[in-house]
Amino acid sequence: MKAVILISGNGSNLQSIIDSADRIDLQISCVISNNKNAFGLKRAESSKIQTCIIDEELFNSKDIFDKNLIKIIDQYDVQLIILAGYMRILTPLFISHYFGKILNIHPSLLPKFPGLNTHQRVLNSSDTIHGASVHFVVNKLDSGPIIAQDYVKINHLDTVKSLSIKVLRKEHDLYPKIIHWYTEGRLKLIDNESATLDGQMI
Ligand code: GRF
Repeated sequence: MKAVILISGNGSNLQSIIDSADRIDLQISCVISNNKNAFGLKRAESSKIQTCIIDEELFNSKDIFDKNLIKIIDQYDVQLIILAGYMRILTPLFISHYFGKILNIHPSLLPKFPGLNTHQRVLNSSDTIHGASVHFVVNKLDSGPIIAQDYVKINHLDTVKSLSIKVLRKEHDLYPKIIHWYTEGRLKLIDNESATLDGQMI
């Protein structure tokens, strides 16, 4: 299945997807970044994957930016859009254009801690477990149907740094696995609140 991957930064999830691509039947048509300095672009280039930078400063509205993003993505005729550390909020226009075709990974056990600084926020709470969630993207930040999660235990020595390392390690296994479910046709988004895996509600 053909996909594009959207990134903004380091791209460690991108790397895990690149490394699994053959096994999970994924053809990465292009890696697109809104940040020209994203290290993930170098990772893509090293694997001979086409890259594209979309410069935020050239577009003065979010809708115009996303219209251009759609134009770029539609050239590739892909069936899946993978967000891997993409730090811009997508517009309703974009999300409805690709309804059911956008996956995201988020570093918390959603619905807990949507948004930013999840590791600090979990440390400030009394939670003893933390983790990562893969979900369909719908028109509300970090709140589409959750497809799968993986967990880490929090101990009293944990810091933002240690949690981020532990959670990323989980993400790197989790995301390719869920993308594979998608490429196998096992996942379907029904509406903003529900999705199915093998025809069963998840
Ligand atoms: C990950 O924690 C992911 O959950 C979040 O952004 C981070 C991206 O890390 N959406 P990387 O760029 O894949 O290393």
